[in-house]
Amino acid sequence: MLLNITNLHISINGKKILKGINLDINQGEIHVIMGPNASGKSTLASIIAGKKEYNISQGNIFFMKKNLIHLSPEQRAHLGIFLSFQNPIEIPGISIMNFIKTSIQSIREKKNMKRMSMTDMILEAKKVALLLNLEKNFIYRSLNDGFSGGEKKKNEMFQMMMLNPIFSILDEIDSGLDIDALRIVAKAINVFKKNRKNSILIITHYKRLLDYINLDYKVHVLYDGKIIKSGNKDLSDKIEKQGYDWIVR
Ligand SMILES: Nc1ncnc2c1ncn2[C@@H]1O[C@H](COP(=O)(O)OP(=O)(O)OP(=O)(O)O)[C@@H](O)[C@H]1O
Ligand SMILES: [Mg+2]
Repeated sequence: MLLNITNLHISINGKKILKGINLDINQGEIHVIMGPNASGKSTLASIIAGKKEYNISQGNIFFMKKNLIHLSPEQRAHLGIFLSFQNPIEIPGISIMNFIKTSIQSIREKKNMKRMSMTDMILEAKKVALLLNLEKNFIYRSLNDGFSGGEKKKNEMFQMMMLNPIFSILDEIDSGLDIDALRIVAKAINVFKKNRKNSILIITHYKRLLDYINLDYKVHVLYDGKIIKSGNKDLSDKIEKQGYDWIVR
């Protein structure tokens, strides 16, 4: 098992946000979390990646048998956890290529791997940028600085494909994408998953992205801090048509 979350309770400023989450993700699997606004999806994503200070009042998160709770976001990234934010931040002054270079080399260093040559890295970056239909000099632009909404999301995909994380969390990677960009991002996920045992957790409100993913996935409904239903593709189809009322009732 890759990720094992048991009975996770989280509160922020005294307000209970997650109320007993249980979630198991195996190597190679794709899981999807759907659920109404403010149900706790992004909170769960941030907790796994260690990105925010929350009060974990109960429960555990194990990743490759390691307890994540005491590890920093950097240590979690080194273990192979990647989080693409719902709202990516802008870092003017740092180019995409420089950012990715630093991340890749630091991960390789931690794994006692040899540094990747700049030529290889640029070659790979150009290949990935092409797959994502990004303009030629995109990789030299300042990180998210002045990017359109869609470009920001594609840049998150670019980061994921370059870093090749064992476990990626894509928080609303499909929001704000036009129809062509949506297809391109889905294709990138398909390409990324081909011949790889990496796992992905997709957080989304709509099944339109899922429709382009040609792989099997499990669907969970997060409602008011709890996973109230799990299923397969049929569940996302039914939610699209009927919303959440029938599950909540
Ligand atoms: N720092 C914080 N202080 C107070 N409340 C917070 C904080 N962070 C998150 N919350 C609350 O936690 C709840 C869950 O937020 P979260 O962002 O996880 O929802 P979500 O399921 O991702 O929603 P959406 O679909 O709108 O993205 C919300 O009510 C939110 O206001
Ligand atoms: Mg969210």
